Amino acid sequence: MRKPDIFDEIIQCLKTGAQTGADTSMDEGILRDLYARPVRKAAVQPKPAGETDAQSVRDIQPVQGPLPAYAPDIPEWESLRTECASCSKCGLGKTRTNMVFADGNPHAELMFIGEGPGADEDASGVPFVGRAGQLLTRMIAAMTFDRATETCIANIVKCRPPGNRNPADDEAAACMPYLKRQIAMVHPKVIVLLGAVPLLYLFNLKGIMRLRGHWLDYEGIPVMPTYHPAFLLRNPPAKKDAWADLQAVMAVFGRKPAPRR
Ligand code: SF4
Ligand code: URA
Repeated sequence: MRKPDIFDEIIQCLKTGAQTGADTSMDEGILRDLYARPVRKAAVQPKPAGETDAQSVRDIQPVQGPLPAYAPDIPEWESLRTECASCSKCGLGKTRTNMVFADGNPHAELMFIGEGPGADEDASGVPFVGRAGQLLTRMIAAMTFDRATETCIANIVKCRPPGNRNPADDEAAACMPYLKRQIAMVHPKVIVLLGAVPLLYLFNLKGIMRLRGHWLDYEGIPVMPTYHPAFLLRNPPAKKDAWADLQAVMAVFGRKPAPRR
């Protein structure tokens, strides 16, 4: 029998909400390589005949050398990045190590929006690389998307709120014009909101428990609110609901979970 891979485990985990006990944490070296530079195209290794889409994040290899053409071909994206890097419009600018702009592909059709950088993101300058980020990466793989090339990931605030508190209203208000410009540039087919914070600041809505799984509209873009992966780490049974939400998103793209082999 084939040895179960990380992909089987994600599906199992997300479907049943059960924890399998197996170690799914990614090797730190792989993560560092993968996310060494923002907006870096990753090459998916050629698939053996008959194999379906990316089976796991381990299939994704970082590309060595210069950035691919698509990154510099949005000069507005890079100039916005530069603008944010020297921003001090709110107090978070004083305590940050790195401004965390975005990860993935600014041409992506699928965009994820989280809260704000945590300690690992502040240290690396890349969103969603800590424990919650690793779960997000596995959720994206389970959706049959390639995180680096097929998604764009950003946050409500670009600098870390000290002690991992939620962003304050004035901080979110100061930072959101950047995010709104990013959304306008990416113009994704679907946006997924991760947790209560983006729901509050993009829609002025409270009640992620009630509103998750229900489509919203942001300037003509369909938006699916779901749970934040940090919440899923604390509440594994909620993974079942998150997986239902993500499957609704997959349906928009005509994708189905890869069949178990
Ligand atoms: Fe500027 Fe946003 Fe950082 Fe505040 S959180 S300093 S508004 S980039
Ligand atoms: N949580 C978030 O909301 N965003 C990150 O970038 C990391 C953790």
